[in-house]
Amino acid sequence: MATQRSLPPGPGGRWGVNTLLAFQRDPLTFLTGVRRSYGEIARIRMLGRDVFLFSRPEYAHYFLVDHAQNFTSGGDRDVLKRLLGEALLTTDGEVHRRQRRLVQPAFHRKRVESYAETMTGQTQQMLDQWSVGDEVDLAAALQELTLRIIVQSLFDLDLQTQGTQISQLFTTVAESNNPGLVGSMLARFGLGEDQRARLARAGLDQFVYDLINTRRADDRDHGDVLSMLLAARDEDGAEMNDQQVRDQTMTLIAAGHETTSNALSWTFYLLSQHPDKYDALCAEVERVLGGRTATVADLPQLRYLDGVISEAMRIYPPAWTLNRRALDAFELGGYSFPAGTRAVISQWVIHHLPEVWGDPEVFRPERWTPEFRQGLPKGAYFPFGAGPRICIGLPLAEMEARLLLATIVQRFTPRVVPGWPVEPRPRVTLRMRHGMRVRLDRAEALAPVARASTARLP
Ligand code: HEM
Repeated sequence: MATQRSLPPGPGGRWGVNTLLAFQRDPLTFLTGVRRSYGEIARIRMLGRDVFLFSRPEYAHYFLVDHAQNFTSGGDRDVLKRLLGEALLTTDGEVHRRQRRLVQPAFHRKRVESYAETMTGQTQQMLDQWSVGDEVDLAAALQELTLRIIVQSLFDLDLQTQGTQISQLFTTVAESNNPGLVGSMLARFGLGEDQRARLARAGLDQFVYDLINTRRADDRDHGDVLSMLLAARDEDGAEMNDQQVRDQTMTLIAAGHETTSNALSWTFYLLSQHPDKYDALCAEVERVLGGRTATVADLPQLRYLDGVISEAMRIYPPAWTLNRRALDAFELGGYSFPAGTRAVISQWVIHHLPEVWGDPEVFRPERWTPEFRQGLPKGAYFPFGAGPRICIGLPLAEMEARLLLATIVQRFTPRVVPGWPVEPRPRVTLRMRHGMRVRLDRAEALAPVARASTARLP
């Protein structure tokens, strides 16, 4: 096809103030609406700048995989850099490649599998504090749990009493920061972060630096990521300074807990809306585990559970949008784009395309048969991204989400408190605006502990 000269259609007029406000108000509805009104490539004018929304699976594949080397990861990363410094998520090119090689061994399958007991063990500890009939904020509880798990797995540290506090500091920072497009614009003007968030960030820094100092002082190889980072040398034999170790550590902790806890919170939400699917899940867990603690070896048999999590991450992708910026000019979909073009590829939009999914709004775990997975067009489903920047924590996150879900449903049935407003709040990840208050009912797939305690109930 001959390349056209005109720009793609899209909203925003000359300055794009209204688009900024609409995006700020409700980014998910805004992006879905842009796709519906303007098609697969849309130009969004925002505060005098253009960004382009590419909403077709093959375009996602183009940016993330086939032509990944022509795109940096956003360019609009002021918000993330404020918290994470210069580490995996926030660097490009050779620096990124070197860091990735350094951190990768921590995520090899065998290594990751050794974290399984920490995952189920920490979950059991959380569940031991709960009783049938209690009401809890499940979103907050899961965030704290995944934080404990990541810190213990990767940094060999049991958070014990600090867990709640550190988790709340992360929430304060995450809540105060606007996502990608808008956040970066506000950050350019020194706006967008209030005093509470700055203090929370300082608190997190203190926590991570203390962790590094303690470990430097002890000088023993703990066989974990922190030991690896401290022992690492670059080509000139230089070790990382505290700031560099801090940036990697903060990145792994931040990227490694909120996404997973969001995935699980949304999974429980969807399950509580679909009791029949919940029953099917519990029946499978009971059949496969018969009350035992789940292990990595059980996961291949938990096929329905796998479909539940895949489907939940389709409908509510914890990473809901990716930003890219072109190094060189490129042509796509009949248009020419100059170097510097800002592209948005949204999991939220592509995971809900009717032409790909047929019934995108329906929660249907059964759709995830091996044949269905194989038949999906490239770029249609990418909760973990794709290509050279694909989530480094993917094996850990997939295993964790599955083990935690199996372990929790063996002990309790969390039911969302009637009338509780569950709404997405898209920040850097897809959070829940008001958390999620649930009532803990008896488990349907019973574990021995639950059997014993239910036996005593009237
Ligand atoms: C359900 C859970 C998770 C989801 C949905 C998720 C999603 C993602 C996505 C979409 C990216 C790609 C970003 C891009 O292309 O710009 C990414 C990157 C990354 N994730 Fe995850 N993630 C999850 C869990 C984890 C965990 C458990 C860890 C660490 C323990 C982790 C660490 C990272 C890091 C370090 C990167 C940057 C990789 C790079 O740029 O090379 N994530 N994640």
